[in-house]
Amino acid sequence: MRRIGILISGRGSNMESLVLAAQSRRIEAEIAVVISNDPHAKGIDKAQALGVDTICVPSRGLSREEHEARLVAELKNRGVDLVCLAGYMRLLTPVFVGAFPQSILNIHPSLLPAFPGIEAQQKALEYGVKISGCTVHFVDESMDHGPIIRQATVPVRDDDTPETLSMRILSEEHRIYTEAVRIVVEDRYRITGRRVLLK
Ligand code: GRF
Repeated sequence: MRRIGILISGRGSNMESLVLAAQSRRIEAEIAVVISNDPHAKGIDKAQALGVDTICVPSRGLSREEHEARLVAELKNRGVDLVCLAGYMRLLTPVFVGAFPQSILNIHPSLLPAFPGIEAQQKALEYGVKISGCTVHFVDESMDHGPIIRQATVPVRDDDTPETLSMRILSEEHRIYTEAVRIVVEDRYRITGRRVLLK
């Protein structure tokens, strides 16, 4: 059984949805640990309430590489072989990406490659797109970049605010993140160039 480590920085709703999916066996994997870089992240309490091993590895005062070396050690000590970023607000260096080749996933609240980075929903509204959505992808060293596993569309309404659009996208995020993790843990994919093809 794959052992998943989830990295968060904040609210943790995607983390919670993955933990619930694993606990109810919709995902056949063990959530080995939830790690936050922010000791005040709300998601920490949620993970503890769900009975998941939870630790904080603060990034303050460390170089990115030093911080990541600590993360890698914590994850490897627990036998983690699949990492899910869930609202983890730091860009990864080769130290981390190289430690888990093709085994790091991320969720992003836009149809990548549109609107990478923070406040993607606000940028989509300001741009005036009529369709937004979310993306689950394998992670490489560029921000919100790497082979796409799953996407879902969410129509933009004329009266949307960043908050209302974010809310509708978030419920699709929870759905497709679970689907994408299932595809990966069940090994139902192959990567050809940039494309993730289902077996
Ligand atoms: C989500 O919108 C996710 O796509 C983005 O950050 C947000 C995290 O939300 N990367 P949560 O912490 O999972 O509730």
